[in-house]
Amino acid sequence: MDLFEAMRGRRSIRKFKDKPVPLDIVKEILEKAIWAPSNYNMQPWYFAVVTGNKKKKILEAMEDVSTLVAERVSSIFDEKMTKLVKTFTRTFGGAPVIILAYSDRSFGNTPSPPLKFDPGILSVATAIQNLLLLAHEKGLAACWTSAAALVEDNINSILGIEGKDLIAAIPIGYPDQSPPVPPRKGRGIGWYT
Ligand SMILES: Cc1cc2nc3c(=O)[nH]c(=O)nc-3n(C[C@H](O)[C@H](O)[C@H](O)COP(=O)(O)O)c2cc1C
Repeated sequence: MDLFEAMRGRRSIRKFKDKPVPLDIVKEILEKAIWAPSNYNMQPWYFAVVTGNKKKKILEAMEDVSTLVAERVSSIFDEKMTKLVKTFTRTFGGAPVIILAYSDRSFGNTPSPPLKFDPGILSVATAIQNLLLLAHEKGLAACWTSAAALVEDNINSILGIEGKDLIAAIPIGYPDQSPPVPPRKGRGIGWYT
């Protein structure tokens, strides 16, 4: 697949088919996704692949978050959209696999001199974008989501994970929707000579 074709064709998908994703494909995607740049080459990413009973428990943990998220978005979205957001937040669109992306603090962070952004988080973000593109290349779909970080402690105790910062929860599966392409806003580039 042509690189730009992949970049433009990838969509955030929020409804998935009830069809399992072979875990060897997930493994391949993750092993390739880590070919990403990272601050001081720390490679601070940690990906937790969640299925089965652990996934069920994580969805339970998302119940409260979905109410909170719905409250927040109700000021910008209409009732129908708010309901969709709430349902997606607590179900992850029925995805068979959820990948949790962490920044592992034990690999060390080197914000020196002090930066106003976290280089560890940024480094994980680069690998997440790779992951999304690789999933798309495989005919899979995914969505980068943030709300799980609101119940990070709960999720970490479900999985027995310590010393890592949860950056994103990424449901992954076969797409069961083809949403319209959100147009790019045509701004954000400046030329200086
Ligand atoms: C840092 C980040 C956080 C995001 N969080 C959420 C989220 O919590 N829930 C969600 O449905 N989509 C989330 N998205 C996906 C965006 O809504 C989506 O990328 C955007 O609407 C553009 O659509 P596209 O990905 O199909 O091009 C997130 C994306 C990024 C990069």
